[in-house]
Amino acid sequence: MSDLQKSPVIPVIVLDDANDAEPLAEALLAGGLNIIEVTFRTAAAAESIERIAKAFPEMQVGAGTVVTPEQAKRAIDAGSKFGLAPGTDPETIAYFKQQGVPFIPGIMTPSDIQAAVKAGCTSLKFFPAGAAGGPKLLKAMAAPYANLGIKFCPTGGVTLDNMNDYLSLPEVFAIGGTWLATKAQIQAKEWGTITQQVKDALAKSAK
Ligand code: 3PG
Repeated sequence: MSDLQKSPVIPVIVLDDANDAEPLAEALLAGGLNIIEVTFRTAAAAESIERIAKAFPEMQVGAGTVVTPEQAKRAIDAGSKFGLAPGTDPETIAYFKQQGVPFIPGIMTPSDIQAAVKAGCTSLKFFPAGAAGGPKLLKAMAAPYANLGIKFCPTGGVTLDNMNDYLSLPEVFAIGGTWLATKAQIQAKEWGTITQQVKDALAKSAK
């Protein structure tokens, strides 16, 4: 089991301002989470990852929404210990493999699963989990591949209310979501609220 698979909950973070990186990481740690996925959806992503990696060595900081080898390089150079993406891109997967950094590509169909497995990945992000069909779809879709040891991290529409519908499935190792620290909460610097949301999620987690 990689370090990545030790936390049942992964906060998916969108940071507009790298100055928010350290207080946000502190808020997550205060709630009991030592993992963070900073998405490459903003220009502040690489600097934010670098700042968190430097200030909090105990934090597993990773990059999300990594969709090209070029972004993968920037993410790893900044100190990312893992990467995720909404989809499956063989070149991005190959770059992470070459660097020895764990990478979790995204899947939504059986063909996506087969492409990711062919590229050497067995930890996969199920995205967009809720809109695609939720736990019922994941269970049905994963069944034919049960002998391959694939584990999934559903994200997209996961909340405190439905997280255990996913976490109670044996093939799910973690769930991810933006609800743990929303963009609006980060912008408003609501660090106490974020800490409480993390505590609530960890207390409720079925894993
Ligand atoms: C992701 O990339 O994992 C999703 O954007 C998270 O989706 P959510 O906002 O529904 O949690």
